[in-house]
Amino acid sequence: MAAQAPGTPEAAQPGGYGPLPGGDALRAQHIGKSFGAVTALVDINLHLGKGEVLGLLGDNGAGKSTLLKILCGFQQPDTGGIVLNGDEVTLRSVDHARSLGIEAVYQDLALINQLSVYHNMFLNRERVRGPLMSNKSMRDTARAHLNEMGINIPSVDVPVASLSGGQRQAIAIARAVYSDAKVLLLDEPLAAMGAKEVAIILDLIGDLKRRGDVSIIIIAHNYGQALEVCDRINLLQHGMITLDKASKDTSVAELNDIVVAEYRRAMEARQRS
Ligand SMILES: Nc1ncnc2c1ncn2[C@@H]1O[C@H](COP(=O)(O)OP(=O)(O)OP(=O)(O)O)[C@@H](O)[C@H]1O
Ligand SMILES: [Mg+2]
Repeated sequence: MAAQAPGTPEAAQPGGYGPLPGGDALRAQHIGKSFGAVTALVDINLHLGKGEVLGLLGDNGAGKSTLLKILCGFQQPDTGGIVLNGDEVTLRSVDHARSLGIEAVYQDLALINQLSVYHNMFLNRERVRGPLMSNKSMRDTARAHLNEMGINIPSVDVPVASLSGGQRQAIAIARAVYSDAKVLLLDEPLAAMGAKEVAIILDLIGDLKRRGDVSIIIIAHNYGQALEVCDRINLLQHGMITLDKASKDTSVAELNDIVVAEYRRAMEARQRS
């Protein structure tokens, strides 16, 4: 296990994986972020190839959501920068990032409970005809997309507040998937999902992967599911990327060993002090 060497993004991949031949869709370079006394991220160097699915793993509080929030413009980094399709960008807001093709589904969901399912699916992208919202067109499209994905909800007319947590999550993911985004950032899309919904989301990510024009970062806690769906894995520990390997070159056992070994070391250090 090697922490990143500061100042050398390429060398910072312990697994030795440089950019893919198609170029990177997104790079994080030397990203640091603190919240008061809490250091959430330390000199993060991450790259996401075009069409690649990258799994971001790590324990609670490791900094995964913070990194995702920076990559989608929700939070600003203290240090470092973001490169999108080879160009340095400053993401001023979530809307700005969205206009550049970056779409995120947060852990704490960004749906509006009082609005209907179909209005939520077209949030900030409402279809209009003249001065009026084209409700019929949005309703029909939302229904078609959810049917296509195999997501069961009673009706697209009901307010999101009346749906279960898993159904809400599915709506948020459907919205991101049908947004034409080029970079999708999914914070624990499989949490709160039943077995069938997990299969739906995994199949959907598989379909997007085959399409090849979307790059995806997925935060997950289940190593097995992550290895199944992701091309590459980055393990985050205490705000640092400590492992970067192709999924085929690692295993649930290796990832578990690293995390457990780190826990043991921390316990021993605590006992010594
Ligand atoms: N807005 C905030 N204000 C203060 N501290 C924060 C804030 N957001 C995150 N943190 C802290 O930063 C650290 C990283 O949090 P983060 O949410 O990124 O972890 P995570 O890896 O997503 O964890 P989990 O698996 O539990 O979702 C934690 O110590 C957390 O308490
Ligand atoms: Mg999180």
